[in-house]
Amino acid sequence: MNNHFHIAIDGPVAAGKGTISRIIAERLNFLYIDTGAMYRVAVLLAMKNDVQFDDENALVALLEKSEIKMNNPVGLERDGRLTTVIANNKDVSWKIRTEEVGRGASIVSQITAVRTILVKKQQAITQFQDVVMEGRDITYKVLPNANLKIYLTGKDFIRANRRHLQLQNRGIDVSFNQVYSDLVLRDKMDIERTNDPLKIVDDAWVIDTSDLSIEQVVNLIVFKVNIMQETLLEN
Ligand code: DC
Repeated sequence: MNNHFHIAIDGPVAAGKGTISRIIAERLNFLYIDTGAMYRVAVLLAMKNDVQFDDENALVALLEKSEIKMNNPVGLERDGRLTTVIANNKDVSWKIRTEEVGRGASIVSQITAVRTILVKKQQAITQFQDVVMEGRDITYKVLPNANLKIYLTGKDFIRANRRHLQLQNRGIDVSFNQVYSDLVLRDKMDIERTNDPLKIVDDAWVIDTSDLSIEQVVNLIVFKVNIMQETLLEN
């Protein structure tokens, strides 16, 4: 473990990982890293270059020569996005947020070689800073030595409802039933895939956000981190 404080958060689709991580990062002055965004960037690159989502060699070649950067939004970037994602010097923060790209991400994330490259890129970012990083394999693969490991979850219906509202607010017209069935399918793919599936590790703090407000979840986590940081300082 290095000297930086690392918070690792895993959980299913629309459990609130992004929104909650973003606010925690701001409160604690940590960098927020959305690893799902990297799988989404892989899809965007594939679409742009006419590469099939299951073409391992072509995807790996694309990712190897690509640079993916993330920063907490500043200035004009504060347009409702949770993080700014720059792929090969282009701001793709919004382009990667469609349901189509999300579905593609469930496919490319099944490919071991793609995961290996992206995990390396994720670990590299955490070396020199305090981070709150969220995804599906962060607590046991990307940051197995994280100071704090959290599994954020919630009832299917409530998560689908949140995602549906989020999409509506962005002007994306999609039915609740479609969002619900997409969510259940994507969770199933994440949990059942053979390589680095979504799972709850023994030392994770499991938080069910179904009946909690964002503020309540954020307060719980920030409180815990503050205590952990004080203890670290004392020792
Ligand atoms: O969190 P999200 O919806 O942006 O993630 C997009 C897809 O990427 C999702 O189906 C799961 C996958 N993913 C993954 O396999 N590992 C991660 N660390 C993050 C996301």
